[in-house]
Amino acid sequence: MARTLIKDVLTTPPTGQEITIGGWVRTVRNSKGGFSFLALNDGSTIAQLQVVADGKLPNYAAELVKLTAGCAVLATGTLVQSQGKGQTVELQATAVQVLGWADPEAYPIQPKKHTFEFLRTQAHLRARTNTFAAVTRIRNVVSMAIHDFFQQRGFIYVHTPIITASDCEGAGQMFRVTTLEANPPAGAPRPDPNDDFFGRPTYLTVSGQLEGETYACAMGNIYTFGPTFRAENSNTPRHLAEFWMVEPEMAFCDLEGDAETAEAFLKHIFRTALERCTKDLEFLSEHVDATVLPTLTAIVASDFERVTYTEAVALLEKSGRTWQYPVGWGTDLQTEHERYLTEEVFRKPVVVTHYPAAIKSFYMRLDDGTAPGRATVAAMDVLVPKIGELIGGSQREERLDVLLQRMAELKLRPEDYWWYLDLRRYGSVPHAGFGLGLERTLQFITGMANIRDVIPYPRAPRSAEF
Ligand code: 4AD
Ligand code: MG
Repeated sequence: MARTLIKDVLTTPPTGQEITIGGWVRTVRNSKGGFSFLALNDGSTIAQLQVVADGKLPNYAAELVKLTAGCAVLATGTLVQSQGKGQTVELQATAVQVLGWADPEAYPIQPKKHTFEFLRTQAHLRARTNTFAAVTRIRNVVSMAIHDFFQQRGFIYVHTPIITASDCEGAGQMFRVTTLEANPPAGAPRPDPNDDFFGRPTYLTVSGQLEGETYACAMGNIYTFGPTFRAENSNTPRHLAEFWMVEPEMAFCDLEGDAETAEAFLKHIFRTALERCTKDLEFLSEHVDATVLPTLTAIVASDFERVTYTEAVALLEKSGRTWQYPVGWGTDLQTEHERYLTEEVFRKPVVVTHYPAAIKSFYMRLDDGTAPGRATVAAMDVLVPKIGELIGGSQREERLDVLLQRMAELKLRPEDYWWYLDLRRYGSVPHAGFGLGLERTLQFITGMANIRDVIPYPRAPRSAEF
């Protein structure tokens, strides 16, 4: 079924040649003059192509007048200048073939405004709405922009495992992977972990970082880009149980280089979205969040702010605000604090560095010369308005003795991490990296308030339909 995409039809001047369009009917208008206007969408662009179906078409009375929203058709004809408002060309059909009907009494996606909550229950059909199709196209462009950025800079794309035996973040938020019976019948012996598929407890990965570090310490600069999983019971508009993370890891790199890469990376993503998703972003600016376009445009042209955690806490303390989560040196920054810093103090993205060691992961490099009880690590979080944390990263602890000491304090068993420690035994090198949450980035770009609306099939507590 050779067909032309509507996006190509609308961006190239008509040649007078006959073309075929395949798409789903969005709206139908049957004129009194004995013909019909079909607005077709094929997913390639936000715009509809108007198809004019003449009453003389052989299947007009039997089929075409009965078309409704959601029906699938193949329309053949030539492009002509359109007299109608809002379009320059339309397809004068010589044949319209109905491929699939959609019972108007039952079809859930009617040509009217549906709430995002309702559309979440129709996730298998919601890409047929303008908003979700726009988000889907932007997700595609952003994914490619991510690869472009690293490929242009000589980073090697590495596939780290999905099933893992180690907890990278040490937060205990891992999903178990097992072939053992979860609930053996009453009276049966409890299954022995040694009988499990891998002969040991295994989990879905929370991050590809540890394995990524092993490849950076051989290949120089690498990145991973894949799904990660967290069994954190947070029912928030910013958390998913399954989300996609981009994790670059760079050998011969310190915290400063890490922060510079993160800033250039984000700007590259935003710039590409602005250039390549103009129509979709205009649509979202009009219908979802008016600040999307001006914010992105301003950010690519400005420098991110840099503050230390200690400075950030001082700013929060003197804000005069009452916080839901109290602030003080040593407590982690919550979304309300992160948003205050980016939205009200600096009004731009902020890189917060040097967090207290006690609230960060074991692999982060201990800062030299900090006062007792005030130990900090070479960590950085990139915060943006509305979302809060978009990126978390750090310079890694490359000194074997310091790392072993940290692991002992956190009661992590060195034998579980023997291969990770080997990197510090053989040719250890300063290195750094970060993780960017793809969905939070998409929320920021699209203005979608709920993270469940920027991934096709969201996974969250008590929610794994489809
Ligand atoms: O800050 P996080 O936990 O960092 C890591 O996992 C490091 N190992 C990354 C690294 O240094 N290689 O997660 C990184 C980012 C967060 O900043 C956030 O954008 C996103 O991943 N993220 C989530 N996104 C959606 N749902 C969740 N539950 C998320 N948890 C983290
Ligand atoms: Mg983090």
